[in-house]
Amino acid sequence: MLDWSEPSASPRQTPPPLMVQSVAQAERTGLGMIDRRGGRVSVDDKRMINCRADVNQLLPLKYKWAWEKYLAGCSNHWMPTEISMQADIALWKSRDGLTEDERRAIKRNLGFFAASESLVANNIVLAIYRHLTNPECRQYLLRQSFEEAVHTHTFQYIVESLGLDEGELFNMYREVPSITDKAAWALKHTQHLDDPDFKTGTPQADQAFLRDLVAFYVIFEGMWFYTGFAQILSLGRRNKMVGIAEQYQYILRDESIHLNFGIDVINQIKIENPHLWTKAFQDEVRAMLREAAELEAAYGRDTMPRGFLGLNAVLCESYMHFIANRRCAQLGLQRVFDEAENPFPWMSEAMDLKKEKNFFETRVIEYQNGGALSWE
Ligand SMILES: [Fe+2]
Ligand SMILES: [Fe+2]
Repeated sequence: MLDWSEPSASPRQTPPPLMVQSVAQAERTGLGMIDRRGGRVSVDDKRMINCRADVNQLLPLKYKWAWEKYLAGCSNHWMPTEISMQADIALWKSRDGLTEDERRAIKRNLGFFAASESLVANNIVLAIYRHLTNPECRQYLLRQSFEEAVHTHTFQYIVESLGLDEGELFNMYREVPSITDKAAWALKHTQHLDDPDFKTGTPQADQAFLRDLVAFYVIFEGMWFYTGFAQILSLGRRNKMVGIAEQYQYILRDESIHLNFGIDVINQIKIENPHLWTKAFQDEVRAMLREAAELEAAYGRDTMPRGFLGLNAVLCESYMHFIANRRCAQLGLQRVFDEAENPFPWMSEAMDLKKEKNFFETRVIEYQNGGALSWE
């Protein structure tokens, strides 16, 4: 006789030993078998890494800071094509509007960012996302991934507008040693996570995950991008390449949220896993920041061998020291350089688009989704 009754709540079957690991992995990705008898997730079940609670249940929220950053990212929506490139095209094509040194710095800067935006996006999607076992953080990563696509689009738009050699620009990360050194340094920290057998759950693996977060969020986006922004915004302040400078202002606004998200993620993992944040590991992270500042100084010397008005390799190096110390403070670490002054105090103005600053002699009205940029 057919039995139409509900399946009895028999004890959960234990998977055969060979399947245990794959089941655990599937629970973390959220793509495993649906557990029909699993309970509802409570806030206390949620954890940043190595969480066994269902990652498909966004609510109840535990980490409100992650949700708030997701909302802030959505409110900041912009597209590069909304910004006029007419003045930049005229200046780039003029014979004496830019010095050779300025052209070299601009091209190297664009070349660094063009591929870096993809490296950052690939790291989020292919390495970080999988191992961050919290749905509100994943929600932010999805938003960030889109923003990185918008940033890559920006460089496509600049190349097209100025008629630059696309092969030259998008291959600089392979062909210009001072750029390759930075990209290779960061990639070395994500390659562990790229291994299909990599999984978090041991102190060594969890520290490898933290190293990846430091390399990409704190160093790539939080240090190297900042000197890149300073270079272009410094030119913008002198009324040169103002279209690109405006685009960089929008990228900077996005990146400052990416950076702060990364810092919050690292600090939350520290709170939940204090055994990972050993003195030896703290020293290692500080050494990473110091080494990254040295790579940036070498890039500055290569990009600006003679320097130009308001900008040179020495100023960029001291800015990097200032930023590295600031990142240490945000992570609760001892600073890595002697007290360093900020040689670009105007960068903090450039970072805050919400205040109507007379930055490029136009006033930016806060951009909201569904609207358009309005310049008074
Ligand atoms: Fe970006
Ligand atoms: Fe970013």
